[in-house]
Amino acid sequence: MIIDSFKLFKYQIMRFFRYIFLTLFLFLLSCSNNTKQSIDSPDGKIKLVFEIVDGELKYDIKKNSQQIINPSSLGLILQDNLNLGNEVQLKNFEVDEFNETWTPLYGEFSKIKNHYKSLTLELNKGDVDFKITFRVYNDGVAFKYYVPKQKSIKNYNIIDEFTEFNLSSDDTAWWIPAFSYRRYEFLYVESKIDKISKKYFSENIEDISYDSLGIDAAHTPLTIKKNNGYLISIHEANLIDYSSMTLAPRGNGSLEVELYPWSDGITKVKLDSQIVSPWRYIQIADNSSELLMSNIILNLNDDPDPDEDYSWVKPGKYMGVWWEMIGTNESTWFQSKYHAANNMKVKSYLDFASKHNFDGLLVEGWNKGWYSEWCCLGEGIPFSFTETFDDFDIDLLSKYALKKGVRLIGHHETGGQIQNYENQMEEAFEMYKKYGINNIKTGYVNDVSKNIKVYAEDGTISKEWHHGQYMINHFQKVIDIAAKYNLMIKTHEPIKDTGLRRKYPNFISREGAKGQEFNGFSSNGVNHATDLPFTRLLSGPMDYTPGIFQLNNFRYTEPGSGVIDKNAIVPSTIAKELGLYVVYYSPMQMAADLPKHYMKHPEAFEFIKKVPVDWDNKVVLNSSISEYVTIARKDKNSENWYIGGITDEMERNFDLNLDFLDIGETYDLLIYKDRKTTHWKENPMEYEIEKIRLKINESSKLPIFLAPGGGFAVEAIKL
Ligand code: NOJ
Ligand code: CA
Repeated sequence: MIIDSFKLFKYQIMRFFRYIFLTLFLFLLSCSNNTKQSIDSPDGKIKLVFEIVDGELKYDIKKNSQQIINPSSLGLILQDNLNLGNEVQLKNFEVDEFNETWTPLYGEFSKIKNHYKSLTLELNKGDVDFKITFRVYNDGVAFKYYVPKQKSIKNYNIIDEFTEFNLSSDDTAWWIPAFSYRRYEFLYVESKIDKISKKYFSENIEDISYDSLGIDAAHTPLTIKKNNGYLISIHEANLIDYSSMTLAPRGNGSLEVELYPWSDGITKVKLDSQIVSPWRYIQIADNSSELLMSNIILNLNDDPDPDEDYSWVKPGKYMGVWWEMIGTNESTWFQSKYHAANNMKVKSYLDFASKHNFDGLLVEGWNKGWYSEWCCLGEGIPFSFTETFDDFDIDLLSKYALKKGVRLIGHHETGGQIQNYENQMEEAFEMYKKYGINNIKTGYVNDVSKNIKVYAEDGTISKEWHHGQYMINHFQKVIDIAAKYNLMIKTHEPIKDTGLRRKYPNFISREGAKGQEFNGFSSNGVNHATDLPFTRLLSGPMDYTPGIFQLNNFRYTEPGSGVIDKNAIVPSTIAKELGLYVVYYSPMQMAADLPKHYMKHPEAFEFIKKVPVDWDNKVVLNSSISEYVTIARKDKNSENWYIGGITDEMERNFDLNLDFLDIGETYDLLIYKDRKTTHWKENPMEYEIEKIRLKINESSKLPIFLAPGGGFAVEAIKL
């Protein structure tokens, strides 16, 4: 008893002195404009250092003692010219560690580990308080700004965020231009960081020099190969009620955040009562295969609210009354002799989709508002989302579909006329729900920079950027209201993916890059498909719409002409089109070609029918950035694995290691591959299917040939 009270006394004394020391320490800290804190990743390899140097905020990142990000500035400037990047003092800081494994509703993995160390800095500038939180993962570093509601701030609008990512002039980036007319739908260009500019893009890829609005900057995710060999990707996560981030070159390898402004050209973010920025993050990998394995973007988002039930969200595969307008050019969206969305045609597609076990059928051009010049300048007759064309009987067709075990997939092309869409949205969603439709493809074609028109009550028009806060809030509104009607949304011309699918699983997929459609009406060239996995796809699923089998002689000069456009080709091979179903992840995957083209190659079509869309695990078997990649994925609902590989214009021979399969077990491998004589341009539709039975041991290998511009797909069935 005596001993116990003595112990207690000693403990209290120690606590008292600890308190005094800590207070003294923090007092001294706050008197100085200099401080330095650091934390390491859980595996100890990545080190983040945060510093206040003469009142200015800096951070830098190293991996294995090698510089990843050189010392770089942090800070925001608010509307009243309050600069939260200088004259700052540290009030307090907290270091923490978090380690959990969580279960996504659908995805590339059935379990995801979220393990990081965090450093939260409580800062003040005069009487303004704010925080910066860092998280250091084994595969990257993230940070965000938080300015809480407080008396000393009158206006929370942001006029500048000057976060920097200082790299080296020798570092190479794969990028697409921001502030340009076609949103994210550009080919990628590879250059040194300092070259990021509309001029460089115009000289090397596509002329956008006339697009003079806006600055020189790259979209994110931005992939960079550092001169010390590390690969990084800079992006943002959890983009909500903010403006999207682009990266502008400032010379000497420096990149600075530039947010899309509102139409006034000055205000970047409008906020009422507090600032919570999205996460800015740098994914860090030793090589290109590791880059493809990160879940950092999902780990930087939250779970759905506990009272939200998303069990109605289901991954699936679909076909579409689509390629015959955009690809083969046999039909029209608008009313004409060749209008595709008519009862008879839709029924025949439904029969086919049902026979081959598809979940959905997209039908475009069903609603009033399509007319011959609908595209692409954000002008034109506003679309109706509730009135059908006369030859499309939605009641009859939706019932026919349901009877056949398929659902119609809705289509809302907004033409970028946002208010027109928002005015009808709720009614349109209600109508779709009534007809048993649970999935909508939305679209925002408006191929002019800063051309989202917002009409004020007095008739004045302001024009917003497609990626500014106005649009980010619009996309969020669509997702929130769609959830009320149990609708999944798959957006074309979307805002980039920032991992919101974790919290809002009904934002099931999106386009957001140059997809297959361009191979229909123009061309992506043979090397674009191998750029996407290392760039756009790092942010999340893409509705690329793979699976074109008729790769040449498919396009008519115009509907009804009967004349084939000999120049139109899809620069791919049939085996590569199959490989894309595994390489490109999307929980809603399309079989994009026409039934008649699939029927020419029924054996290859079998792979599309069987390939899953929801996965348990993923292994990257080989890769070289923008040259080739092979990915193996395990089905979530069986013991089977699927392997897909694609190459650029070079032919390749791989000797794939099969040790990711269960050692000692036997598998039937169905291999869909190019022949020696296959070639994306000369002979794209030649392929062969090989079947082998293999008992797996540690040294089991699969030799495989990929033709120039080709690829392959494998189904590994565990016996
Ligand atoms: C562009 C989309 O990417 C495409 O899929 C769609 O068919 C057209 N817009 C028309 O909405
Ligand atoms: Ca598009």
